Amino acid sequence: MKILVIGSGGREHAIAWKLSKSKRVQSVYVAPGNGGTARDKNIINIPITDVVLLRQWAQQEQIALTVVGPEAPLALGVVDEFRAHQLRIFGPTREAAQLESSKAFSKAFMIRHSIPTAKYETFTDVREAHDYVKRMGAPIVVKADGLAAGKGVVVAMTLEEAHTAIDFMLGDAPSGVQHNGQARVVIEEFLQGEEASFIVTCDGLQNVALATCQDHKRLKDNDLGPNTGGMGAYSPAPIVTPQIHAKTMREIIIPTLKGMAADGVPYSGFLYAGLMITKDQEIKCLEFNCRLGDPETQPIMMRLKTDLVDLLMSATQSQVKSVEKVIDSSPKQDRETREKPGKLFFNNHVWPSLESLELDWDRRPALGVVMAAQGYPQNPKKGAKITGLPEDSEDVMVFHAGTTGESGELKTSGGRVLCVTALGGTLKLAQQLAYKTLEGIAFEGAQYRTDIGYRALQNVKPH
Ligand code: AMP
Ligand code: GLY
Repeated sequence: MKILVIGSGGREHAIAWKLSKSKRVQSVYVAPGNGGTARDKNIINIPITDVVLLRQWAQQEQIALTVVGPEAPLALGVVDEFRAHQLRIFGPTREAAQLESSKAFSKAFMIRHSIPTAKYETFTDVREAHDYVKRMGAPIVVKADGLAAGKGVVVAMTLEEAHTAIDFMLGDAPSGVQHNGQARVVIEEFLQGEEASFIVTCDGLQNVALATCQDHKRLKDNDLGPNTGGMGAYSPAPIVTPQIHAKTMREIIIPTLKGMAADGVPYSGFLYAGLMITKDQEIKCLEFNCRLGDPETQPIMMRLKTDLVDLLMSATQSQVKSVEKVIDSSPKQDRETREKPGKLFFNNHVWPSLESLELDWDRRPALGVVMAAQGYPQNPKKGAKITGLPEDSEDVMVFHAGTTGESGELKTSGGRVLCVTALGGTLKLAQQLAYKTLEGIAFEGAQYRTDIGYRALQNVKPH
C-alpha cells in the first residue's frame, strides 16, 4: 500500500514514522513534510500543499489511504475533495471539522446535545462584548471564532486583558483569524481544574480511544508564560483514571458522535476533546480538535503497538461501502464502461469494525520535550543550524517539526523545531532519557521546558 500523510509538523513526522513500520506499507509520502521526514529513508516528501493538486497526485500515484494531520486542510475541505473522487481518506469533512474551525458551531453543538462545557455567549458587536465582560468580571475567557493559529484564545485574568482581546478579535485591525466574512467571539466562563487530552479514532459512529495523554501548553516551567501549541506531552495521563475515562466516553465522546450523526454530519477522523477535570471529578469539554494533538501524538505513537494502518483502514471501511453502493446502484452499462479510479486503490481486504479492535499499547510511559526556536511563540527566528542529533532507536525518537535540509545541514524553519521523545520503565525514566538525549542537541536560542511531566510525577491534583 502507498500511504500519504498531509502536513509538516512533529505530529505528521510521528504518524509517518509509525505508518512506515507497517508490513502492509510499500511507501509513505508526506506532503509537504519537513527536514526530519526528508532524512528518514522510509519516508518521501512531496512538495504539494494545494488540496486539488494533492488529490490529483493521489489518484495518479494510486494512494490507498491518506491521513490528514493538521486542521487547516480539513477546514479547506480536503476530505470532501478526496472522497468526491473515491479516494480513501481519514479525517472529518469540512462541515464536520467545524467542531474545531468554529468555536460558535462547537459551543452551540455542545449545548444542543447536553455535552458539559463552560457557559458562554457569542458576540459580533464590539460594544456588546465589552459590556458583557464588564458585567461578568474577570477571570473570563475570550475566544475568536475561526482558526487562529494559536492566537484565538485569551484566558483573561483581568478585565483589561479581556477588553484588549475583544478589540484584537472584533475590532477594525486585521487580527489574523480566519473567519468567513463575519468576525465573532465566544466569551465564556473561566473553568478551574486540570486539563487532559482525550483522543479517539472515529468512523462516523463507532470509536476507539487512544492512550490517555497530557500536554504542557505554557512556554515556561511551572506552566507559566504565554500559551503555545504545546511544549511537551506524556502518555499515559494518571489524571484520567478509569472512572474519568468512562465518564468522558459517556458524557462527551458518545453524545458527540451520536449528535453529529443525528445532525446529518457524521464525524470520522481523530476527535480530540480538550478536557477540564475539576477537583470534584466533574468533566467539562473545553474544546474539540478535529485531529491528533501536537505534541501529544509523539508519545502516543511511541506507545502504540497495534499497526496504525490496520486502525485507519478499519476506521475508513465505511467509505468503501458507500463507494461500492454508488457504483453498484449505477446502470449496468455505466458500471462496465465507467472508470472507477478510487475503487482500484481500495484493496479488497475487509477490515474489522473499529469497535472490535483492541489497541495494544506499550506499558511503558512515553514523554516528549519540545525544543522551540528563539522568539517562539511570538516571533520565532529561523535558519539556526541544528547539531548533535542522535541516531533513532527503539526507545528514543527525535521527531522534527520546523526543520529543513535533506542530506546536508539541518536548519530551523519554524516555531517548534524538535520533539525529543523517549519511552521508559517509569515516567521518571522516560523523562530522564528524553532530557539526556536533548542535552546533546543544540541550535542557537533553543528554548525548552525543564519540567515536562511534573504534574504526573508530583501527583498535582486539580485546583
Ligand atoms: P482552547 O483552544 O479552547 O482549548 O483553549 C486553549 C487553552 O485555553 C486551553 O487549553 C485552556 O488552557 C485555556 N482555556 C480555554 N477555555 C477555558 C476556560 N473556559 N477556562 C479556563 N481555561 C480555558
Ligand atoms: N497540543 C495541543 C493541540 O494540539 O491542540
